[in-house]
Amino acid sequence: MTHLIRQMGYVVIATPNPDGSARDLADMTGVRITHRGPDAVYVSSNARFCDVAYLQDARRGVRAVGLEAMDENAVDEIYRRAKSEGMTILADTPLVSKVKRAVRFVTPFGPVIEVHTPVARENIPPSATNGAHVRRLEHVNLRASDPKGFHDLVTRMLGLKLSDRTTNFERAWYRCADGYHHTVACGPGSGIHHYAFDAHGLYDLAGVADALVAKGRRLLWGIGRHGPGNNLFSYYVDPNGCVVEVSFGLERIDNDDLHEPGNWEFNSSSNVLDRWGSQPPDSYGKALTPFVI
Ligand SMILES: [Fe+2]
Repeated sequence: MTHLIRQMGYVVIATPNPDGSARDLADMTGVRITHRGPDAVYVSSNARFCDVAYLQDARRGVRAVGLEAMDENAVDEIYRRAKSEGMTILADTPLVSKVKRAVRFVTPFGPVIEVHTPVARENIPPSATNGAHVRRLEHVNLRASDPKGFHDLVTRMLGLKLSDRTTNFERAWYRCADGYHHTVACGPGSGIHHYAFDAHGLYDLAGVADALVAKGRRLLWGIGRHGPGNNLFSYYVDPNGCVVEVSFGLERIDNDDLHEPGNWEFNSSSNVLDRWGSQPPDSYGKALTPFVI
């Protein structure tokens, strides 16, 4: 199937404190604030106008995860498919500004997805970066009431490709056109487990840990190395309770046609979650952020 999704889009978070949320992400990861309004604050790790949008809301949760389509035709095609699949379409306009077109829908398995035209790119003033840290919004890790059903849906409807999975779809990882091992990952449950940034290097992961300690906080888990994707990872919890991953070295899949998805065992003795052998704390598994419509 031809790719309809080019790359990760954005994460839209509802919060009572957009400005504080954005400043915390900037302090921890080095993202820059690109827009600050009364009801919304946007941050970016590169030339894109928005990686994460914080929208003023009495609730805390994720409004939608954005996936950047190849072009307007791909948005149209996914709109048509969402309708024919009988999906609940929430809107045909984007949640964020400087994006031309979008379709936002609720999957039958819980996640809310917004497929959108490319986010505007802008020149970055050198003074806007503090010399650190992350360089790209990398992926989201979702929870679905039926991960196998979710698998069938995203491969059929969005054209995502399976990169790896565990035997019973306790976890599955999907890629899009940009060739990174995964843009979307999924497991059983409800909500979103985390979203992830790609860092320039391992030193940036240490910098995040140091920045947390300076604020009296600490990593939720890491540093370690994931099995599928082979990336170094670290996780922390933001002020809204959302888990943020900072990752380095995610595998690239250079040839879609030649890649055979791995089938991993998912148990405490396997190296799926950490090749180096550590186990996540219980709080890691329980840290879920709900979708709020
Ligand atoms: Fe992840």
